[in-house]
This record gives sequence, C-alpha cells and structure tokens, in this order.
Amino acid sequence: MEILRAVAELRAWSRRERKDEGNTIGLVPTMGALHAGHASLIRAAAAFCGRTAVTIFVNPTQFGPNEDFARYPRSFDGDCALAAAEGADVVFAPSVEEMYPAGAATLVDVEGLSQRLDGRSRPGHFRGVATVVAKLLIAAEPDLAFFGQKDAAQVAVLRRMVADLRLGTEIVVCPIVREPDGLALSSRNVYLSEEEREWALTLSRAVRQAEALVAAGERRAGKLTQAARVTFAEMPQIRVDYIALVDWATLEQVETAAPGSLFAVAAYVGATRLIDNTVLP
Ligand code: PAJ
Repeated sequence: MEILRAVAELRAWSRRERKDEGNTIGLVPTMGALHAGHASLIRAAAAFCGRTAVTIFVNPTQFGPNEDFARYPRSFDGDCALAAAEGADVVFAPSVEEMYPAGAATLVDVEGLSQRLDGRSRPGHFRGVATVVAKLLIAAEPDLAFFGQKDAAQVAVLRRMVADLRLGTEIVVCPIVREPDGLALSSRNVYLSEEEREWALTLSRAVRQAEALVAAGERRAGKLTQAARVTFAEMPQIRVDYIALVDWATLEQVETAAPGSLFAVAAYVGATRLIDNTVLP
C-alpha cells in the first residue's frame, strides 16, 4: 500500500489507474483514528472498486473554535495497517498546508442544509466538511465515494454538493457499525469515561425505541420525538442537542414519518458530543 502526501500525486495515481489500467476508483474520506466503522467503508470500497484510496486528514476547517481539533485522536501507523488489511491500495495523508495553500480563500457552502441538525449547533462545520470533501473529490476523481450513515446530515450535505457541482462521483452510504451493546462506533468514543460510556447508550436506546414505535404503526413526528425526550429525561446526565424527524434529502422537519425519513439524535455526554440515527423503513 502506497502513502501519498501531495494532491498532485493522488491525482496522478487516480488518472493512471483509471485511464491506463481501466480500474474504477473508490474513495473513503476519513479523519483517521480508524475503527470498525471506517473499516466497513474501506471493505465496501475494495469490494466495489478496482482501486481504493483512503484519505486521512484531520480537517481544521470543520472544527469550531471551542471544539477538539487539537486533541482529536491521531493514530497514523495503526490507521495505515488497518487500511491495508481492509484492502486499501493508497492512503492519502496530506498536511494542512497541502489541502489549504497559503492564502486559501475558497469555501464550499451548501446553503440551507448546512444550517440544519448538526449544522445548527456547529456553525461552519458543514462548510468545512463540504470544502474538504470537494477538494478530495476534485483531486481523486473517484467513481464512487463511501460515507457512513452514522453522519447522516453530512451525507445529505455532500449529496447536494456533488449534485450541484456535478462532480460525477456516486455517493455510497454504508450502514452504522455498532458495539454489541448498541453504541455507534465513533472516533470520539475514546473521550468517554466508563460512566459516560454507560450514559451514552441512551442515544442508541432512543433510536431503537423510535424504530419500535414505527414498527408498531406510529408515524407522528410529535409522538416519536416525545418518546425520545422521555428516554433522555431518564438520563439527566446527558444534555440533548436535538431530537428530530426530517426528510433525509433536505433535512427539513416532517410531521409524519415516511419511508426514508431520518430520525436523528445528538447529545452531549459530559463534554463529548455524540450522534445517532435511523432511516425509517
Ligand atoms: P470521520 O469521522 O473520520 O468519518 C469518516 C467516515 O466514516 C464518515 O463517512 C463516517 O460517517 C464514517 N463512520 C464513522 N463512524 C461510523 C460507524 N460507526 N459506522 C459506519 N460508518 C462510520 O466524517 C468525517 O470523518 C469527516 O467529516 C470527513 C467526511 C472525512 C471530512 O473531513
């Protein structure tokens, strides 16, 4: 497995593989600290595509001033071993200067969508995500790019961006990988104390409860979100950020759950912000 550091190298690799070798290219953007959730994306890419590139870049522009950019977990050597074991051909790990050249002034703003769900409590977050993913897609020109449903609002923002900019990459969404007890895997789970790790199960519990209510025939957004509020109220150690039933494409609230509606929750467990969701059948 090759490790590339320059955008020009990634572009040259992709063009060589596509044009000269006739391979399809899969891209898996990550911020590193890879876990089984990331592994599932890399495995899917390697299964679907002739060649797979994993990007590892802790993107400063998607972190707010009071967020965890400086202490975000970094484990480059272990990440490369995991990527190679799951079938990656290339790891692209640029410096901040490589992704944001001196004087960089170009941002990608997906208006409206970027202010909803996580975007509401993390102003500027989705602008940072859209900007860096646009750069990665323009550099790697992948046929397919793989993202996790775990970050469902991010998927909505990126689908809109790819359609608007006509980037020509198909977005593939992979299911949420969970711990055996239900907790969605996240690079930020390492921040949780043993106690907080227990409290954090409230998110997946609220999501499963919404699924069960829908399975039992409940479709009213008010009832679904109210049930989740009650579940969170039983765990006062957690501060809810949002509980929402939205259209997955627009992230706008809906009154009635329809197939493909997104039920999503976000909450602060201690200082750690966690998210979880389900796409309703
Ligand atoms: P990161 O948090 O590292 O996640 C990289 C990818 O892994 C995302 O598509 C995310 O949804 C997916 N992922 C994370 N946890 C998962 C889980 N438990 N199950 C399935 N997939 C999971 O998301 C980002 O990085 C960044 O915003 C990025 C897109 C790389 C732009 O900087």
